[in-house]
Amino acid sequence: MRSEDEYYQRAIVRNFGPAERVVKIETYRPPPLAADQVLVRMTHCAINPSDIITISGAYAHRTELPFVPGYEGVGVVEATGGNAFLNVGDRVWPLGSAGAWQKFKVTDSRWCFRVPAGLSDEQAAFAYVNPLTALLLSRSLMSSPALHVAVNAAGSAIGRILIRLANRVGIRPIAIVRNPRSLQLLSDLNLRVTLVEPGDKLSALIAEVTSGAGLDIVFDAVGGEEGARLASGLRVNGVHLHYGLLSGTPLPVSLTTTRPDIDLRFFRLRDWVHFVERGELAREMSAVSNLIRCGVAATPVEACYPLAKIGQALAHNAREGRQGKILVTC
Ligand SMILES: NC(=O)c1ccc[n+]([C@@H]2O[C@H](COP(=O)([O-])OP(=O)(O)OC[C@H]3O[C@@H](n4cnc5c(N)ncnc54)[C@H](OP(=O)(O)O)[C@@H]3O)[C@@H](O)[C@H]2O)c1
Repeated sequence: MRSEDEYYQRAIVRNFGPAERVVKIETYRPPPLAADQVLVRMTHCAINPSDIITISGAYAHRTELPFVPGYEGVGVVEATGGNAFLNVGDRVWPLGSAGAWQKFKVTDSRWCFRVPAGLSDEQAAFAYVNPLTALLLSRSLMSSPALHVAVNAAGSAIGRILIRLANRVGIRPIAIVRNPRSLQLLSDLNLRVTLVEPGDKLSALIAEVTSGAGLDIVFDAVGGEEGARLASGLRVNGVHLHYGLLSGTPLPVSLTTTRPDIDLRFFRLRDWVHFVERGELAREMSAVSNLIRCGVAATPVEACYPLAKIGQALAHNAREGRQGKILVTC
């Protein structure tokens, strides 16, 4: 049985740095609720690159210390303020802020979205960051089976969802991974070709695969020189969608002069979520839930840790060649 202290645990970051070192567990008591707030008892939460980057201090200018990390998770409404429109017992996604890595999250009820029945807690915990981003990135772009599409970090959770979304319209993407072990993650996907870190050979390979036409769309989660090499394989007016910085290095500024003829786009879910109406966000979460249920946006889990062992969970998350995400139970 859990002690009361264990019951009120949260992860906390008091100094920026490597997540395994700076994320600590502490006991706390949630504050009283304001009228429009709810107390959400978190049940499951995800570890994503965006959490690790925020903890590292890369966004120190907009991150106030100390903070509870975790942009994604699912929980149950435990108590409501007088004006909250949710009911005790509702299963919800508390979105729009960090703080999923704790037992109880106090948040604005307008930022809580009901989780549809039929979605397990495990899948609901991974429904937001990657599936929603993949859906928004792919919409309107992947329209014809004839398109030449390339996806890097193809073994990542979002890379695989993007490929499945492409497969749904008959597109067979070019998939690029850095680690041969990631190839087995692609075995159930319909791909034109899989490449392991092709480096300087990439341009020739793209020319061969596209019969000289060039790529129509690049989904780039890596940036740096690898992202730039992919961009140089685009046809005129081809779209380079840059949505992640796994290499830790931005796309070179010179790209805008070497390839002024491409359509270079940047996407951050955070910006989109704070820009749209809540009704639209609710509709998209419903669309995402359907995609998860039919397997297109499902997220495989490699391991699950209790919140008390967040340090071990973070160390596992940092391993190369992971075969799925790390889930945390609160
Ligand atoms: N813009 C947005 O709003 C948004 C939303 C969602 C996700 N993202 C971004 O999408 C990316 C993937 O997220 P995820 O949650 O899907 O990741 P994930 O499932 O946790 O996996 C990370 C993947 O990245 C690969 N990787 C790590 N460093 C790499 C590098 N330098 N070059 C190539 N591959 C590398 C790993 O491959 P190995 O097997 O080789 O270790 C692994 O496949 C992240 O950059 C994330 O920030 C952005």
